[in-house]
Amino acid sequence: MTDRLTITRPDDWHLHLRDGAMLANVAPETARHFARALVMPNLVPPVVTGAQASAYRDRILAALPAGHDFTPLMTLYLTEATDPADVVAAHDTGIITAVKLYPAGATTNSASGVRDMDRIRPVLEAMAQQGIPLCVHGEVTDPSVDIFDREAVFIETIFDPLRRAIPGLRVVLEHVTTSDGIDYVRANDNIAATITTHHLVINRNHILAGGIRPHYYCLPVAKRETHRQALLDAATSGDSRFFLGTDSAPHPDKAKLAPCGCAGCFTASNSMAILAHMFAQADALERLEGFASLHGAAFYGVEKNSGTLTLVREPYEAPRQIDTPEGPVTVFDPGFTPDWRVAE
Ligand code: DOR
Ligand code: ZN
Repeated sequence: MTDRLTITRPDDWHLHLRDGAMLANVAPETARHFARALVMPNLVPPVVTGAQASAYRDRILAALPAGHDFTPLMTLYLTEATDPADVVAAHDTGIITAVKLYPAGATTNSASGVRDMDRIRPVLEAMAQQGIPLCVHGEVTDPSVDIFDREAVFIETIFDPLRRAIPGLRVVLEHVTTSDGIDYVRANDNIAATITTHHLVINRNHILAGGIRPHYYCLPVAKRETHRQALLDAATSGDSRFFLGTDSAPHPDKAKLAPCGCAGCFTASNSMAILAHMFAQADALERLEGFASLHGAAFYGVEKNSGTLTLVREPYEAPRQIDTPEGPVTVFDPGFTPDWRVAE
């Protein structure tokens, strides 16, 4: 078995960097291993205009360590009031790479999201015409739908009709968690899916069996083991429609370990070590580069990165937490010591 693997420097196609003090502490964790990341716009208030995305990009660049080689790729938060002309202009001028659809109330800071899909038709049509990708948080928000079914119900009742109405729209089913989602991506055109690090590792037992583990709670919530297997099969298959979007989502421990704890796993620091371990275990180490470094760039129509990242087969104990002015943020614990680490 090989002990060393050099891949094209990876990209993270779904990342939460936050703002202010938290941004300054988490951005270096991603910049250490990744060349680019698609930055989610769910700040408070959300990033809804091209001007706001441009200002946020400046704050991210200012927060990065000197000598970094990291490019944040920006997104706009779609609302029912989004102006199609602003989206097109922000894309034309290179400020944004994609637009993010949050169903209102689906997750952290999604209150300004979309309630009535008909109201965003004009902007989606403009995006289809310009080839601007739509990134979708794929969960229904209907409180009567079981939380473990919300992705599958979304695909059937909202996502599929929306795609059929605008067939030219290029879409990414973000942080897919179900075999239903994987099957849907495989069966359709103009669609890809991101898969997170943590959803390749945990199933719902990790959250709930033998005690409740808030650090494993994220949205969409991890599903049963058969779904995790479907995600792992897709990620390690070499199919270019599946690529890495970590959804690394920092919350201070005090916000996670609360009676109503926040959703999110912080995986920026150890994603690449965990992924190398998982791919090696699946006997698919040679497909890690496609998943982490090539497929996403191809979907988004950007050059692959010129730099490289080297992984070595050595046990890796990640730091348990990173410190921030808002308190410690716990680093995702995969429940094993990865056999691989990023070479320093
Ligand atoms: O677990 C999650 N955390 N899922 C999301 O969709 C949002 C994210 C966050 O911003 O904390
Ligand atoms: Zn996210």
